[in-house]
Amino acid sequence: MTTVAWDPARLPSQAGRVVAVTGANAGLGFFTSLQLARAGARVVLVCRDQMKAARARAAIQRLVPGSEVSVVRLDTADLGSVRSAAKELSALDRLDVLITNAGIVHPPRQREVSPDGLELVGVTNHFGHFALVARLVDVLERTPGARVVTLGSLATRLVRLDVDDLQLERRYTGWRAYAQSKIMSWSFGLELDRRLRAAGAQTRALVAHPGYSITGRTPTVRGVNEPGAGERFVDNLQASVTQGKDRGAWPTVRAAIDPLADGGDSFGPRYRLKGAPVLETPALVSRDPDVAAAIWAESERATGLTLLHP
Ligand SMILES: NC(=O)c1ccc[n+]([C@@H]2O[C@H](COP(=O)([O-])OP(=O)(O)OC[C@H]3O[C@@H](n4cnc5c(N)ncnc54)[C@H](OP(=O)(O)O)[C@@H]3O)[C@@H](O)[C@H]2O)c1
Repeated sequence: MTTVAWDPARLPSQAGRVVAVTGANAGLGFFTSLQLARAGARVVLVCRDQMKAARARAAIQRLVPGSEVSVVRLDTADLGSVRSAAKELSALDRLDVLITNAGIVHPPRQREVSPDGLELVGVTNHFGHFALVARLVDVLERTPGARVVTLGSLATRLVRLDVDDLQLERRYTGWRAYAQSKIMSWSFGLELDRRLRAAGAQTRALVAHPGYSITGRTPTVRGVNEPGAGERFVDNLQASVTQGKDRGAWPTVRAAIDPLADGGDSFGPRYRLKGAPVLETPALVSRDPDVAAAIWAESERATGLTLLHP
């Protein structure tokens, strides 16, 4: 459990460490990758669109001369793609941190399914990441002090979860799909840590949420984040309750590398929607072990993979 102050502008050196970030070509994933590259980490951008990934890689190399940045292709909504990406990532000599950041943040109005028949928002934001973690446990365990960081959201406090309808076959709305996917992500992170410890593993799992972080309040980065004047104007009208995605990345970065953070910790902005990264108490639903067991069982069923059984 962390007790001392943390300065996002003065990160401990990550030289020699390898960090993989899903959804790293844009938004929070990009700024998380950039900050970790600045701290000296070798960064793997795990992205579905290779053109966007190339632009993000070029931007990081421009902003952090000499940084080591590579790309792995992954569409989290496609379990075949997860298998291929995991194979590539497993070939790394080490994997110190896996950050499962990719996500649909503007869900479709009508329920859609993935090529594997899973509800699209759930598989993109959670089930695909569950499969990725299941396939990367070995490479993480080979790396002393490895961490998995999953991405939660304040939305987890705003909906009731129906554990009997995790594929949203009975009652779909876009908002419900998003919030439920984030409950699954947060719950998964905490349960993953419990199961890793129970298995005697060294890897730890932590959770982060970025408050309310929006594009028009985020610094311009050529080829990656170039909002127009209109978006800047509208987003700045919400300045009192929002922050840029550069700052939204702070809790994730802290969860990834604060040496005093422990498995099972969650981090978020000090003022819930914005601010410096501090320890956060997850919503009751995300801490409920029965809910976690139901989500885990559905994740195994959906992906056809088993992970960390007692
Ligand atoms: N922004 C916030 O205020 C906020 C609040 C709470 C939680 N979060 C969480 O933070 C994470 C990032 O959000 P953001 O605001 O940075 O969103 P964003 O700017 O829309 O970026 C989302 C990233 O995820 C990628 N992605 C989407 N679907 C994917 C798929 N099927 N396979 C692989 N990558 C995929 C996107 O790739 P493409 O460019 O190819 O689409 C993009 O790189 C999400 O998990 C979100 O739930 C954000």
